[in-house]
Amino acid sequence: MSTAIYPGSFDPITNGHVSILQSGLRAFDHIIVAVLHNPQKSALFTVAERTEMIREALGGDPRFEVDTFEGLLVDYAKKRQANVVLRGLRAVADFEYELQMANMNRHLNDEVETVFIMAKDAYFYVSSNLVKEAARLGGDVSRLVPPGVAERLRAKLRP
Ligand SMILES: Nc1ncnc2c1ncn2[C@@H]1O[C@H](COP(=O)(O)OP(=O)(O)OP(=O)(O)O)[C@@H](O)[C@H]1O
Ligand SMILES: [Mg+2]
Repeated sequence: MSTAIYPGSFDPITNGHVSILQSGLRAFDHIIVAVLHNPQKSALFTVAERTEMIREALGGDPRFEVDTFEGLLVDYAKKRQANVVLRGLRAVADFEYELQMANMNRHLNDEVETVFIMAKDAYFYVSSNLVKEAARLGGDVSRLVPPGVAERLRAKLRP
């Protein structure tokens, strides 16, 4: 069975993330969505809220698993016995950063390979950050995120 890890902040999960996960199933049998717990970075949603929204969005498909991790991604990959890290690539802006990360991870453990899937054009400019910014200003982001996420954004940002 082939397993890949899809790491990120997912603060919150967007339809762009969901689309990468669905495409990922064409290449991998099992994908672990790994929510990075980074105490240094302030997030809108707690890790528990983020994992709950991901679980909801993935609708109980047993090929997906949702987990959390702290520290080095390559250490987590080793612990989970996965040697592929899945990442999504949007506009050129992602490229430089993703290349640096992939090379650093390869340097730390060359048994872990990073695999990229290109973003769908509909989600090419969708990021968690932009979605939060738009929602904060009262914009309608319901086509960019799963239904449960749109609701929670409303509850959190416009009480
Ligand atoms: N719309 C999208 N289409 C394809 N890949 C995406 C999309 N949004 C994020 N990704 C990819 O998903 C992975 C995890 O991303 P991450 O959790 O940082 O989301 P993000 O939207 O970039 O969040 P932030 O705006 O907080 O940086 C990264 O590889 C990222 O490039
Ligand atoms: Mg990002």
